Amino acid sequence: MEKEYSFTYQIFTDIDQLSEEDTLLLQKARANTQNAYVPYSSFQVSAIALMHNGAIVKGTNQENASYPVGICAERVLLSTISSVQPNVAVKTIAISYHNLNGESLRPVAPCGMCRQALLEQENRFKQPIKIILSGMEGEVIIVENARQLLPFNFSAEDML
Ligand code: THU
Repeated sequence: MEKEYSFTYQIFTDIDQLSEEDTLLLQKARANTQNAYVPYSSFQVSAIALMHNGAIVKGTNQENASYPVGICAERVLLSTISSVQPNVAVKTIAISYHNLNGESLRPVAPCGMCRQALLEQENRFKQPIKIILSGMEGEVIIVENARQLLPFNFSAEDML
């Protein structure tokens, strides 16, 4: 038997096509790229969450001279959320980046480890997390939930 995995996502050619709420969040994500600590890659990543209680939580990637110690923006954000808003579900996360050595014109997607971390957060509160992806300008991609980014995922249910 053959099966197929597919999912639906939205593409917008520019930020001005988004809802007001999503526009504001993506603008904040873009502005927040400057808070990244990236002396080794010069690749600033920013992830910003809108919580269901209206709070905004920010994260950026934090690098280290011992390279593997560095942490992606998404996981910095999720650890912060779990520390400062531990009982609140995430509504939307906007992820942007500023490549100081090149262009930042097309959306980039979270790495595999961050997808697993996003899924954990989504499962914890049993509520979809909308994910907005975009560079400093140009195209925007919206994915309706984190699970779609990680087919054949591993979760707590697999250990029952
Ligand atoms: N990075 C993130 O912050 N998020 C991702 O999903 C991909 C990569 C960071 C890690 C490192 O600091 C820099 O981008 C280059 O890989």
